[in-house]
Amino acid sequence: DWTMSAYRDEMVKSIREQVGDAKVICALSGGVDSSVAAALIHEAIGENLTCVFVDHGLLRLNEAEEVVGMFRDHMNLSVIHAQEQELFLGELEGVSDPETKRKIIGRLFIDVFQKYADQIEGAEFLAQGTLYPDVIESVSFSGGPSVTIKSHHNVGGLPEKMGLKLVEPLRELFKDEVRALGRDLGLPASFIGRHPFPGPGLAIRCPGEITREKLEILRKADAVYIDQIRKHDLYDEIWQAFAAILPMRTVGVMGDGRTYDYALALRAVTSVDGMTADYYPFSHEFLGETSTRIINEVKGVNRVFYDCTSKPPGTIELE
Ligand code: XMP
Repeated sequence: DWTMSAYRDEMVKSIREQVGDAKVICALSGGVDSSVAAALIHEAIGENLTCVFVDHGLLRLNEAEEVVGMFRDHMNLSVIHAQEQELFLGELEGVSDPETKRKIIGRLFIDVFQKYADQIEGAEFLAQGTLYPDVIESVSFSGGPSVTIKSHHNVGGLPEKMGLKLVEPLRELFKDEVRALGRDLGLPASFIGRHPFPGPGLAIRCPGEITREKLEILRKADAVYIDQIRKHDLYDEIWQAFAAILPMRTVGVMGDGRTYDYALALRAVTSVDGMTADYYPFSHEFLGETSTRIINEVKGVNRVFYDCTSKPPGTIELE
């Protein structure tokens, strides 16, 4: 894309002007925005950028390895893989309230990020993948109902606390422009087209108490569900799709025996910006086949529900 390449050169220049020879750190989430920001800043300042990928133990199957592998090996970035699963899961033990979960994760995220950032000598800047709509939203909707329903976890307040200046190279861009820029920078198409994934991760797809057993089941079931969606070539039609594990067991039969296992909810929605959403109208064949596959392939699940609630009145996530 001609215009995007020209714009990219301009942004690289302005990043170099802003940061000079200083070091920059970036919290890599695996999402499109922080990934494109990191790739762009890397192009501008190379080795002077260090990324920290915080693994809170609430990621999907193979997610940490995929993200870290792609940035290290494919894009040549320097990435610290912060393995902090025990810390997060330990603090979340016994916690079932959704907002409390978010607060714990948000607080630990900042602590962990700060701990790793402190090891990077001479870091002066913090990179963030803030987009134009984020800039607008924080101005015009601040305190409004749309942002107070759920306290979204982000690194807000972090730069002041750490004495860092901000680099936000995507501040003028919309999502589709960020995707075009990402492609231009060589990020794989599969990565650019990924569904959004929330900061608190699987914690909010596990309503009620989080246990390692539930997370394990959830990871496997979600992988089968997404595999089904990809096989039926529906991934790009859907804004976001995921499995959630419900806080209850139900009775089933398997062979000659009775089972008493977890129930799952499958969710898939179409949306433009996540503010409103429609549930995705899968065919009965698709739903039946997916349910059968999950129950056969994932031990510990004996029932599958499909969530046909739109937003409003539902939210996209279950918590
Ligand atoms: P809801 O559930 O509020 O989700 O309809 C709208 C979009 O926001 C994502 N989401 C979050 N993202 N931290 C995040 O970074 C959060 O706490 C959070 N809660 C929801 C959700 O995945 C969807 O894309």
